Formats: sequence, structure tokens, C-alpha cells
Amino acid sequence: MIGPDFDHFCRLVAERSGLVLGPEKAYLLKGRLENIVRAEGLADTAALLARIRSAPRPELIQKCVDALATHESSFFRDGAPFELIKNSLLPALLKRSGPARKLRIWCAACSSGQEPLSMAIAVHETAGANAVRDVEILATDFSEPILAKARAGLYSDFEVRRGLSPERLQRWFQRDGETWRADEQLARMITYRSHNLLKGVAGLGAFDIILCRNVLIYFNADRKRLVLDDLAKALSDDGSLFLGSAETIMGLTEALEASPGARGLYRKTSQERRLAAG
Ligand SMILES: C[S@@+](CC[C@H](N)C(=O)[O-])C[C@H]1O[C@@H](n2cnc3c(N)ncnc32)[C@H](O)[C@@H]1O
Repeated sequence: MIGPDFDHFCRLVAERSGLVLGPEKAYLLKGRLENIVRAEGLADTAALLARIRSAPRPELIQKCVDALATHESSFFRDGAPFELIKNSLLPALLKRSGPARKLRIWCAACSSGQEPLSMAIAVHETAGANAVRDVEILATDFSEPILAKARAGLYSDFEVRRGLSPERLQRWFQRDGETWRADEQLARMITYRSHNLLKGVAGLGAFDIILCRNVLIYFNADRKRLVLDDLAKALSDDGSLFLGSAETIMGLTEALEASPGARGLYRKTSQERRLAAG
């Protein structure tokens, strides 16, 4: 399979998604693209890559990108960031927010919705009845199929068992046939929207908290740098950015610095705040 069609395909995928594929990832393609190969009536993955090179169709390329992206997520993933947000950041931020100055949270690369729902639960548990009035959560991903799942707000037994305590499950989810449905009060705080991290942050506004976790890990250094600089632009001056536990800004940006004592938490540097102020 390795050859000009494969190289062309890897370039296309990287341009559209940031996802770095190389010969060492070729084994992934067979399993993940199997359904597309079948739907296209083709013999194998090599034939699909040849078709994409000879007659590229944007919707077919997007389907491949969706199939190759890792959508793994879980409720309250990694625990510590949510503890910090709930116990330390939210109480301070909620004191100064209200209907006229909503607290703004962005879950960038939100996958199937567990992360924004965990945020919405943390906010409700802290702000109580004022949560919907005072807080908005923007949840974005570039994959339409995964956003459709997030918007549906339905989770299997397996999914709710990953990260939700029995108390939270009972309080925030209702049985719906074989699945669990997230409570309407949570859904009302979250706006799901399609957004590609490689396309900048223009028009999104400033956020008090951004979670961009477990996605930069798939990008090359140049794209990580671009996205980190954009995330810094989208942070309010005293905003907090959370990256995944395996992700770092080291050697990538001057706009952000690690917050001492809080793993995965980054803030704007004073230089970046001055630049933003013009
Ligand atoms: C592994 S999941 C992480 C989900 C969640 N943030 C978490 O930590 O549980 C990565 C998500 O990033 C999305 N993604 C990958 N490349 C993207 C891009 N260029 N722009 C926006 N989303 C992207 C994928 O569709 C996938 O849903």
C-alpha cells in the first residue's frame, strides 16, 4: 500500500485535520477505512487511495478523515482538571459572572460530548439554579458524525460507567430504552458546532476556560504551534487552558506558560496579554 497514492493520501489528511500519518501508521488504514472501501464497491484500501488520488471527492476525503480520527473520550476524563475547575476556578469565576457577562467555556475537539457534559455537571453542581443563566459552553469538533452523537446526548451502559459516579448517573441521566439520556438542563448550557482547529479562532470570542485535550497529540509540531497560538488568542486575559495529560507546550509557543502546581493547566504569558491589549 505504501507508495505515491499513500503519500498523497497522508498529505490530504494532514492538511484537513492535522492528523499525522506515516508508513508506521499504514496498518491503521485497513481496519478504519474498511466500511468506506465496501461502500465505494472497491476491492481494498489500495484501490480507495488510488481513487482518491485520481478523482478526489471532498466528501469522500472527509469520510476518510472522520474514520481515521480517534474519538476516544469519557466522562470526567483524567479527574484532576475537573476537580480544579470545580473547586477552585468556577467559584471565583461565577462571582463575577451573570446574565450580562456570561462565563464562557470552550471544549475544543469535544468528540461525542462526554467532556462538555462533564463541564456542565461541574458547573451545575457549583452554580446551582444560576448555571444555565450565567454560563455557556461551546463544544466543537470537526467531525459531523461525532457531533451528531454528541447532540443526541445518548450513552450506552459502557459509556456512562466510564467516569460517572452512580450518584451523578442517577441525578443527570434518564433511562431511554437501552441507553441513558443526558438531562435537558445540561443540554441547554451547551452549543455544539462544527469547527476545525486548523481554521483559526476568528469569530469565536474570548473564553474564561478552554479544554483542548487529547487532540494536539496527533498533530505535527508546526500545527501544534499554530493551534496553541490561536488558543492563546481565544483565552481571556486571566483565562485557563487545559491540555491533555500527554500534551505539552514546551518549545512550541511563547504565548502560553504552564501554571505551577497544576498539571495540564496553562495561562497567557504577560507578553501575550500586552500584545493582545495592543
Ligand atoms: C481523542 S478525542 C478527544 C475528546 C476529548 N477532548 C477528550 O479528551 O476526551 C479527539 C477529537 O478531536 C477531533 N479532531 C481531530 N482533529 C481535529 C481538528 N483538526 N479540528 C477539530 N477537531 C479535531 C476528533 O474528531 C476527535 O473527536
